[in-house]
Amino acid sequence: MTPAEITDLISQLTLEEKASLCSGGDSWHLQTVERLGIPGPMVTDGPHGLRKVADGSMAGIYDSVPATCFPTAAGLASTWDPELVHDVGAALGEETRAEAVSVLLGPGINMKRSPLCGRNFEYFSEDPVLAGILATELVRGIQSQGVGASLKHFAANNQETDRLRVSAGIDERTLREIYLPAFEMVVKHAKPWTVMCSYNALNGVYCSQNRWLLTQVLRNEWGYDGLVISDWGAVVDRVEGLRAGLDLEMPGDAPRNDARIVEAVRNGDLDEEVLDTAVARILTLVAQASAAMADPGSYDIEAHHQLARRAAAASAVLLKNDGDALPLTGPDDVVVIGEFARTPRFQGAGSSKVNPTRVDTALDSLRHIWGDVPFAPGFALTGESDPRLAEDAESLARGKTAVLFLGLPAVAESEGYDRTNTDLPADQLDLLARVSKIAFRTIVVLSNGSSVGMAEWDDQADAIVECWLGGQASGSGVVDVLTGKVNPSGHLAETIAVTLSDIPAQLNFPGEFQHVTYGEGRYIGYRGLDVIEREVAYPFGHGLSYTTFDYSDLDLAVRPVTDETAQDESVLTVTFTISNTGDRTGSAVPQVYLGFPDATVNRCVRELKAFRRVELDPGKSRSITIDLTRRDLSYWDILLQSWAVEPGTVRVEVGRSSRDLPLTGVVILDAPTVHHPLRRDSTVAEWMAADEEFAAKVRRATEQTGIDLDSDPTTAAFILAMPAYKMLQMAPIMTPEELDEMLGD
Ligand code: BGC
Repeated sequence: MTPAEITDLISQLTLEEKASLCSGGDSWHLQTVERLGIPGPMVTDGPHGLRKVADGSMAGIYDSVPATCFPTAAGLASTWDPELVHDVGAALGEETRAEAVSVLLGPGINMKRSPLCGRNFEYFSEDPVLAGILATELVRGIQSQGVGASLKHFAANNQETDRLRVSAGIDERTLREIYLPAFEMVVKHAKPWTVMCSYNALNGVYCSQNRWLLTQVLRNEWGYDGLVISDWGAVVDRVEGLRAGLDLEMPGDAPRNDARIVEAVRNGDLDEEVLDTAVARILTLVAQASAAMADPGSYDIEAHHQLARRAAAASAVLLKNDGDALPLTGPDDVVVIGEFARTPRFQGAGSSKVNPTRVDTALDSLRHIWGDVPFAPGFALTGESDPRLAEDAESLARGKTAVLFLGLPAVAESEGYDRTNTDLPADQLDLLARVSKIAFRTIVVLSNGSSVGMAEWDDQADAIVECWLGGQASGSGVVDVLTGKVNPSGHLAETIAVTLSDIPAQLNFPGEFQHVTYGEGRYIGYRGLDVIEREVAYPFGHGLSYTTFDYSDLDLAVRPVTDETAQDESVLTVTFTISNTGDRTGSAVPQVYLGFPDATVNRCVRELKAFRRVELDPGKSRSITIDLTRRDLSYWDILLQSWAVEPGTVRVEVGRSSRDLPLTGVVILDAPTVHHPLRRDSTVAEWMAADEEFAAKVRRATEQTGIDLDSDPTTAAFILAMPAYKMLQMAPIMTPEELDEMLGD
């Protein structure tokens, strides 16, 4: 359907039909209008596999058609591999299409504000640049197959506690610099067919009816022209929502709200054009979906499983590898301990739970290569502690290389609630302590969706591999890493703090009385831990390889920023060389961070701006060039209501993680000074800097009263910090009306 055909179709719809299209036909379909042959395409979760419920109902959400379960976003983000994430997206899109579903409800790209968020496994990172780049590729991949994605949960859905009604209190600069940029990047670069608004309120207004969010920012500023849908049950006031920019209410059927829309149009409360616009967007989606639905195709289950295996191996982060404990060199003296080796935990609970096409276990995968490797479960997943399990494991491990599969049990983390701590279960910690005392080597392999505390037991492990919830092939994927078939190149997409209380956001998590204040501002993740100079267990960006990389030859070229420089124009070119100094082929993930030591506004110590993946053979080097744009150097100026860049020193750091930055350099950026429009309450100093006439009057007046602003810093500070209109009350150098005149009022 062309836009003209859509307009024509809308003119044939009755008011009631138009309103009915604004809510789904059932839990997973859009509404149909049979009279005019309008179909109701299917939408379904998401995000890391297709969860198409067999009977179309809400009740049977865990009874879904088999689909490939890829690593959850926590894992995919740890790959730092946009190409691989694109491939996973394309496979997800293929499966979505093959099942005649039009929209996959994902990805979720909310920031990991606290490690306790129960849904962190479904989210990418604590950093908006990393999340934005990877989610852009995931959406591009999904949509390359003629089906749509749903970018969720827009916005500030960073906890599960009270998620249906909590209001996130976030200042605008923090929103613009931390909680919105990943959404902005995906919207601008991947054009997702749909954006899903979140349940929670933002600064007192439910996101489902937040005009600032859904229309001003999303559409007017970012240019989004797709469909905005509600999270399932997020609608509070349907008419207000429609007015604010929420097109489609899900789940359907919602006849009461449809009737409210009709009534609001009839009594003049709602402009019918607003309804028509929403209907046009819904029909556009129907049209977008039609080609793929006419030709769903099929997919290669085995090939997708192999892709899931590749993605699982790439998601694994080698956190520690003392004495080159890994890779394992052969089956001799290797024993496997931990129920997760036999019963893997590879996905999280809630709406994202996929019915996998098959599941690989690490134990089977290892035995497939190395024969009958000894195994002891060590603990039970039921949580009931059985001392015999630990004893058996202990005797098996004596003098051996013990590979211990530990992690969080399913109940520890889920959509719908947050965790209360980051600890591994006590019986697993006890097992680890016992095994590590008598084993020759202890290798810990972790499965968890949100990060777990490690500082207490880290020294008991020779090596630690964090696998996250790695999807249906997590077992074979991690065996590829353990045996060296795959050289690990995963890196942390989130910081692992020493203790929870080191994290500034914990002061205000999860809030109370239906309100959570994001009092830490922009200081989440490494930003927070860097500014308060805390040690961390493992820093953001960290991840070891079986080879080593050297960084050298940093070269920086900066160009002046002028009023004409576009936001996406390159102003800083960073060049460096990376060399593989070990004896295996491997991939490095060089990361570029910027800091602004001269800034007049508050800036983070360092912020990730770009990264690359570089595969190198032993002994080989490559020169890498990265262009950073005006926007990359900017902060959000709340007075100007725009991105602003200040002149002065820019510190560039390049390296392996946020705490391992072997290359540092500075450039001096030439840019116009940032001027804020003068207001009545701008300070005397601000007025004097901007207006010579005003400055002269102040100088005259102060001289007359015997004050020398240059030689009397105490009095000068007092005067210069005063709002101009207040100073006039004490020193009438002009009338308030004259001040207003200078403002051009
Ligand atoms: C979740 C969404 C999901 C939807 C449909 C909601 O509870 O927050 O992420 O897409 O349900 O299952």
